[in-house]
Amino acid sequence: MKILHLSDPHIEPDILHGIDSQKRFHQALTHIKKNHFDTDLFVISGDITHFGSSEAYKVFKDILNQAELPKNLLPHIIIGNHDDRENFRNNFSDIKTDNNGFIQYSKSFDKKTFLFLDTNQPNTDSGHYNKVRQDWLISELEKNSKNEVYIFMHHNPLALGDEKSDKIGLIQKNDFQDILLKFREIIKHIFFGHQHITTSGQYLGITFSSPRSTWSPLVPNFSSKYRLGTANTDPNYNVILIKDNSLVVHSEDFLKTEVNWFETE
Ligand SMILES: [Fe+2]
Ligand SMILES: [Fe+2]
Repeated sequence: MKILHLSDPHIEPDILHGIDSQKRFHQALTHIKKNHFDTDLFVISGDITHFGSSEAYKVFKDILNQAELPKNLLPHIIIGNHDDRENFRNNFSDIKTDNNGFIQYSKSFDKKTFLFLDTNQPNTDSGHYNKVRQDWLISELEKNSKNEVYIFMHHNPLALGDEKSDKIGLIQKNDFQDILLKFREIIKHIFFGHQHITTSGQYLGITFSSPRSTWSPLVPNFSSKYRLGTANTDPNYNVILIKDNSLVVHSEDFLKTEVNWFETE
């Protein structure tokens, strides 16, 4: 199985901080269409827009439509802290929500279930996962207890460096940890975005990964002080290959222009 994980396109009608998010998202989609036509699942994990306006979602949809992606490359989308749930729902009325109106849904392929979570709370950059959303997650995990489960969420559920420096991760880390501990036998991987940095590792015995942003990649913060920084690094998206006994996460730095493949006999 091949999965594409793209995050944080931050689409806006205007250019933000000197980087054209529309152009970069378009370049990523062009690269995907050219190189990964055999993808089984394509996910965009939030911060679809920067300010959450309806106009920005329309621009995002226009770029998607212009890419003329085949059906298997139509993205599954969740929202991040920079999104607006109402404007998102008005523009993506076909995307499912849970019974409480949160953008949460599941998709199963044979024995694999993918859960898409909503960690947005208005007026904060931190992630929130309140009781009703937790209940939805628990019920999906119970329903799919015979499957391998993969979670997509915008916010990081654990601190990625020093705890003190993680001011914008998930607030309900302890509640979320309890759920992961209860179901860690079936949860095979957690995918998130949000911090705009490449990470991978394991948490409570569950592996995780995050791509950078297609708009503005940031640099990791290893100090105890909260800070974010930009550098002249490339944006990327991740390519995940899942086999019976393995899961491999590749980084596609899609702005690369010249690939010289070594000749083989
Ligand atoms: Fe973001
Ligand atoms: Fe974010």
